[in-house]
Order: sequence, then C-alpha cells, then structure tokens
Amino acid sequence: AGVATAVVTATFSPKNSHAFLSSQDDIVGFNPLFIPELIDSRTHNGPIDVSIQNGQHEFVAGRTTPTLGYNGSYLGPTIRMYQGEDTHIRFTNLMKEPTTVHGHGLHVPGEVDGGPQLRIEPGETWDVTLPIVQEASTNWYHPHLMGTTAKQVHAGLAGFYLIEDENSQLLGLPNTYGLDDIPIAIQDRTFKNGVMTPYPTSPPDDLREDTIIVNGTLNPVLEVPPSLIRLRLLNGANARAFEIYRSDGGPLIKIATEGGLLEQAVKLESIKMSPGERNEVIIDMSAMDEVDLKVVFLAKKYTSLNTMIAPTQQMLRLKTSSKLEKQNTTVPYTLNHIQPYNADDALVSRSFDLEDMAINGVKMDPEVINEQVKLGELEIWTIDSGRHPFHMHGASFQILSINGKAPAPEDRGWKDTINPRGQAKILLRFNHEASKQYPYMYHCHILEHEDMGMMGQFTVT
Ligand code: C2O
Ligand code: CU
Ligand code: CU
Repeated sequence: AGVATAVVTATFSPKNSHAFLSSQDDIVGFNPLFIPELIDSRTHNGPIDVSIQNGQHEFVAGRTTPTLGYNGSYLGPTIRMYQGEDTHIRFTNLMKEPTTVHGHGLHVPGEVDGGPQLRIEPGETWDVTLPIVQEASTNWYHPHLMGTTAKQVHAGLAGFYLIEDENSQLLGLPNTYGLDDIPIAIQDRTFKNGVMTPYPTSPPDDLREDTIIVNGTLNPVLEVPPSLIRLRLLNGANARAFEIYRSDGGPLIKIATEGGLLEQAVKLESIKMSPGERNEVIIDMSAMDEVDLKVVFLAKKYTSLNTMIAPTQQMLRLKTSSKLEKQNTTVPYTLNHIQPYNADDALVSRSFDLEDMAINGVKMDPEVINEQVKLGELEIWTIDSGRHPFHMHGASFQILSINGKAPAPEDRGWKDTINPRGQAKILLRFNHEASKQYPYMYHCHILEHEDMGMMGQFTVT
C-alpha cells in the first residue's frame, strides 16, 4: 500500500499527468475504445473460423499501418467458451510466414496447446478442438513460434479467450460483453504521425515503447452505463510492466487473477501487471460521470522510488452515459471457493532460475525435454525470477510464498504468470498430458527473451 500511495501523489504533477507522450503528440482528442467482436461458442453455428491475416490498421483515421490480425486488422475476436464444453476452432494462416496459436492460461493437453511444435504453415488450417474443463477465467491467445513471437504479437496477433462456468454466470457480476464486461488489452507502441512504428529488424533485449494503446485504440474513451463496470485487464505488452490506478484515487475492486475468481474481492489503490498477466477489476460508475485510468511505466528493476519517478500516461477514460441502461449487478461477498493446495502433499520440487537470457543456465533447445512431470501430482516450484515474468503452460498455480512471505489477499487466486521480483514458491498440479512430441513450455513472458531462448519444455505423463 505504501507504493500505491506514492504513485498517486507522484502522478498528480502537471508534467506527469499530460495525456500524451512524444510519439503521439500530434493526435488530438479521445477515440472510442475498440471492443473486439464476441464469438460465443455456445451460440455459434459450427466451428469458429479464424483467419490469421495481414492487414492495414488505422490507429488514426486516414493513416494506415501494416499489421497482423485474427479476422481483422489488429487483435482478434473474443471467443467465449464454457466449462465442460468443447470449443471447435479452425485457424487458417493467410500470412506468408508460419505461426502457432497458443491458448495462454488454458488447461488443455499439449497436443492442442499451440506451442512451438504446432506450426501452421502459410495456407494451412489448424483445426483444433479445445476441451474446456477449467473454471471461469480471462485467458488469451497469441503466436508462440520461437524467434517470431515478439514480432507477430507486436504486429497485432492477440485475442481473448473468456471462460464461463455455472458459478460465474449465477453470481450476478457484470457480464454483458461490451456494456459492463469489457476486455482491456494493454500494450505499448511507438507512433509517428499516427502510424505505428513496425517491430525493429534488430530488436533490443526487451522492447519498451512510449505510447499506450488499449485494444489497439489510441487514447480511448468508453461510454458505460451508470453501474458496476468489470474490466478484464490483460498486459499484452512485449516487455513492459505497468501499474494501473484511478486518477481520482478511488479503488480498483479486484475480483479475479489469471485462472479464476478470487474467493473475495479486494479493494486496491493500484495494480501492477507484468506481460502475460490478467486481472479482473470492477469500477463502480453508479455515482460518477467519468474516471480516468492511468498507467505508470514501471522501470526494469523497479523499487518504490523508481515507481515514483516513472513516467505516467493516460490509459482509458470511462464516461457514464444516461442513454445506456443501468445494469443490476453486484459484487457478492463470496465469489469463489478455492481449495487450497497443501504444501505437505507436494512430493516433487523443482527450481527455475531465470538469469542471463536462460533458465537454469540453458536456453531452449527444441530437441531437449528439460523436465518430466507426473500427471496429477502436486509439485512445488521455486522460481528465482529476477526481473523476469515466469509463465508455464497447462495449469494454474497457487502462490505459496513471495520472497518468503505469504501472498497478499489479492494474490491468493489461480495464476499462470508471475513476476515476484525475487523468489516465488508456487504449488501446482497438471491434469492433462503433454507428450514429447507436443510438450508444454515454461518461459519468461518478455517476448524478446522468449524468442532468444529463455524457455524450456516439459512433458506431463
Ligand atoms: Cu503467453 Cu507460452 O505464453
Ligand atoms: Cu501460455
Ligand atoms: Cu525475461
């Protein structure tokens, strides 16, 4: 909480609260937030067709940027799936380069996980059935080919997979997509005269840029009903960590981590997010005309002091509109029941040391399986992450400790990506198989680091 208070103070200086940084200085005014099309697997007729394609995207009207997108010019449709049901998708690669489509956060077998082995060559279709067994959660899909992940995501390849279950549908949480239940993909990019600067041919170790876009929209505003508004936040940046807060100092009511709802909502002054992480928050707009969400660009190795002097930028304005019907939603006292793992039941422990662009001193080798995990067995993983966000495929974990301390209430939920800035101990169990042919990955989620081989493979059998 100390850090959060410092942030709020620091950001009210006139210089810092300037809405624009240099690369979009010429862009004036707000743009309506782009809401990706929703495809609901339950009501959709037949398989969901998604083309992976080149596009021309207008971040600013009349000025086009060459981009990549799923069914469009930037990002992709939000695909809603349901616990206990299969989702059938056909991804067709219309680009001139290979790709894969990984479901980040999905608990699905290795053979449908979309890792580097599941290449979709140009002109090919990947016909995939995702058996959804996990609970309600906000997940996402993106390319995962080693060497080109960063570039492809940067050009626009990312989309949301939302999972619903009985609990999430009955709770009374805001759940009208695009009205009071909003996907928020946060990325940083560079713009010149309204045109996005393409991914560099010789990229830096981690690409950090100066301008925030949300769902591909520059300086976005969203009209919302005077109700509780649920934001499904995704840090979709290549390398940047953000800290998000309300300009009026009001609370972000956190209801979910990556893998599901928290047991109870937690009011926070700000939320830090590393690449790949998701958080669901609720903002009460019932008695407000508007509120601005801002982000602090966190420095590579930040301390609370760094946070205070880090640049801050406008992220999203929410504006209530009397034309939109007030929604009757609540934040129930109990959101979920999370069966805690018992560390004493963990028979296997492993450690992962993220350092020097390698994990445990080795870089990704497609021929090498780095770890072999037993199906259904509880394990403790010790992650010495340094400044790197660690992510693994195939399951969600519970945090046992962060730098020796028990997790804060807002971190006591299911997660699949973590950046403890130090050491985290996590408890996890894999309930799906991943063969030698189609193993799961663990890696740093700074996409440049992943591309450079800060990744390993594991089987679950
Ligand atoms: Cu979001 Cu292995 O990736
Ligand atoms: Cu993943
Ligand atoms: Cu890294």
